[in-house]
Amino acid sequence: MKNKLISPSFLSADFLRLKSEIEMINKSDADWFHLDIMDGVFVPNISFGMPIIKQIKKIAQKPLDVHLMIVEPNKYINHFKEVGADILTVHYEACTHLHRTLQSIKQAGMQTGVSLNPHTPVMLLEDVINDIDVVLLMSVNPGFGGQKFIENTYNKIEKLKRLIDSKKNNTLIEIDGGVNLINAEKLFDTGADVLVAGNAIFNSTNPTETIKLLKSSK
Ligand code: DX5
Ligand code: ZN
Repeated sequence: MKNKLISPSFLSADFLRLKSEIEMINKSDADWFHLDIMDGVFVPNISFGMPIIKQIKKIAQKPLDVHLMIVEPNKYINHFKEVGADILTVHYEACTHLHRTLQSIKQAGMQTGVSLNPHTPVMLLEDVINDIDVVLLMSVNPGFGGQKFIENTYNKIEKLKRLIDSKKNNTLIEIDGGVNLINAEKLFDTGADVLVAGNAIFNSTNPTETIKLLKSSK
């Protein structure tokens, strides 16, 4: 049976009501918590950091999917483990020694994720794909929620799926940016395993129902 996982992005959550937003996700059909960490250098925005992740971890009942949009992520791997990250995703474009960074994430006891910006070809992962649990394809330029989905993402999913199948491994394909109720079905059909959604979930009138609809897209 095909994976259809939903990872709501807390960038669009109401931080004044963080506890109830977490509880809503706990009770919903969502699978992971997507937490976007931005440093104002790798991307032109700053979000939140370790103290917030640590608080979320106290009551979150699902894995924390931490997406690092920061330079030199290898400096902070153990810190993210300590505050509760389960999946740690670094950007290909931010890692000079990606293979080493992936080994450090594994050694720290987390699942490994690598994210590609919209312009970065998937074939650049060919020689490291066996060390990656999740490839996160950015379907917008990273930095902000609520942007328009980039259509070329479908081509990238197809190429990535072929690469993963050729290596006979179980790497998951995660899509992040501009995901909504209109494109979710086609994304799953094309080969996505995990959909991140921020704006589409937290700014909808019924987030729990939106999660259910995203997950049941067929
Ligand atoms: C963007 C972040 C995304 C973002 C998605 O840089 O990585 O996770 O929050 O938000 P939406 O779903 O609103 O595009
Ligand atoms: Zn993200």
